[in-house]
Amino acid sequence: MPPLFCYNEVVMDKTARILDSGEQLRFIGLARELLDKKIKEIGRQLTFHVTTFGCQMNARDSEKLIGILKDVGYVWEESEDADLVIYNTCTVRDNANQKVYGKLGYLHGFKKKNPLMKIGMCGCMMQEPSVVEKIQKSYPFVDMIFGTHNIYQLGELIYLMLGGEDEGHGVTVTKRGQVISVWDEASGIMEDLPTERKYPFKSGVNIMYGCDNFCSYCIVPYVRGRERSRDPKEIIREIERLCADGVSEIMLLGQNVNSYGHGADFDMSFPELLREVCRVEGIERVRFMTSHPKDLSDELISVMADEPKVCRHLHLPLQSGSSRLLAEMNRHYDKDKYLDLVDRIKDAIPDIALTTDIIVGYPTETEEDFLETMDVVSKVRYSAAFTFIYSQRTGTPAAKLPMVPEAVVHDRFDRLLKLVQDIGAEENGKLVGSKQVVLVEQLNEKEPGLVTGRLSNNLTVHLPGDASMIGQYVPVTITESGGFYLKGE
Ligand code: 5AD
Ligand code: SF4
Repeated sequence: MPPLFCYNEVVMDKTARILDSGEQLRFIGLARELLDKKIKEIGRQLTFHVTTFGCQMNARDSEKLIGILKDVGYVWEESEDADLVIYNTCTVRDNANQKVYGKLGYLHGFKKKNPLMKIGMCGCMMQEPSVVEKIQKSYPFVDMIFGTHNIYQLGELIYLMLGGEDEGHGVTVTKRGQVISVWDEASGIMEDLPTERKYPFKSGVNIMYGCDNFCSYCIVPYVRGRERSRDPKEIIREIERLCADGVSEIMLLGQNVNSYGHGADFDMSFPELLREVCRVEGIERVRFMTSHPKDLSDELISVMADEPKVCRHLHLPLQSGSSRLLAEMNRHYDKDKYLDLVDRIKDAIPDIALTTDIIVGYPTETEEDFLETMDVVSKVRYSAAFTFIYSQRTGTPAAKLPMVPEAVVHDRFDRLLKLVQDIGAEENGKLVGSKQVVLVEQLNEKEPGLVTGRLSNNLTVHLPGDASMIGQYVPVTITESGGFYLKGE
């Protein structure tokens, strides 16, 4: 059987597979026994911290990690000066990688002072063999490395890291004692492992994993694997449980939710799933992330228009307004198709807020291409847009193309940012004087006496209030716009 990856001392074999959730629960129990012993030995609790980089999918994965770690018996610590720190990494742009390397040095400082401290690295960066090699070589103080398909294995990895006996399930323990498990593909979808929620009243729910789109610039399909849709019965069961536990807002998560069910052995499309989710008792709001424009169906638009529980927000990544670059990017739509889709959405759902992702400086981007992007932004009038400078990702087709000079890219980026901000402020300002409903999420971080929440259209609102309002739907009159946020009473 050919090896999957070969690191310095690590050879992974395709025959080994992650065990099922029953087996994983057994490992969580075994890890708990070892941790208990340690706690008795040292006479104090052992603490942990998980730091998340990147997207909503990573945030949800971190909740799963936290659920397992609490079950094992670790106690949450707010700072990174903890007995176990896990970095859940992102590799979509190089600056995310650099940030992680920078912070690892800082973690090493804590480790030198605390001989019990363990450091774990997981997430998208770990799916790149060159990253794992670099960590092994230059950051030998890292104790545990695992990939995006291995988070469910955390109980077993902790058990091994704490000195448990290897049962030969494909996890490698190197001579230095580093515990490593990175698969190139998932072995299936694991249900029923412990998970934690950051907020008691809202939760992300994965409906699918991976991405098959292979946009030319993007590393996600390589690090998150092929598209896999979760069984709708499992999704509904999870949401029913969450609602019974006090959750009223659900965010359905997937790299491209619109291709939910493609190639699956059940027959359900994303719009059908969305309708079912709205029927769950206790649900007030349903959101979803992310929608690829090429797969957004008329059926989805009509479900959004008919179902008041579906939030008035759609994130519709544009990437570029230039049809030439969209073709180069393998996006399967052009400028006119995108604008036509937006028109149909706005006609059907007039109060929708649209947000987007845009890349500036894709290889060969000309001033004309860039002006097409500016034109789409002016026409669509997004309430917010995430703008990114193109980052070369090794292994993607675009990495072979010539880069646009940095100064040109920065100039374009600044012009786009200004346009996005001006339009966002104008669009959001239109809500001043209107009556809305806010789901209050937290105390305001800066101003005492204020709370912060979100409207159905995802805009943030600050309003007078106290902790008793957290998790409540509160009617507000919008009094002021600060651009990307609102104030209300
Ligand atoms: N460079 C810059 N931005 C990127 N994105 C994905 N890959 C890259 C890259 N190589 C952006 C896209 C995507 C968002 C999540 O990240 O805009 O929608
Ligand atoms: Fe990346 Fe494209 Fe997949 Fe989005 S749809 S994750 S940009 S490959």
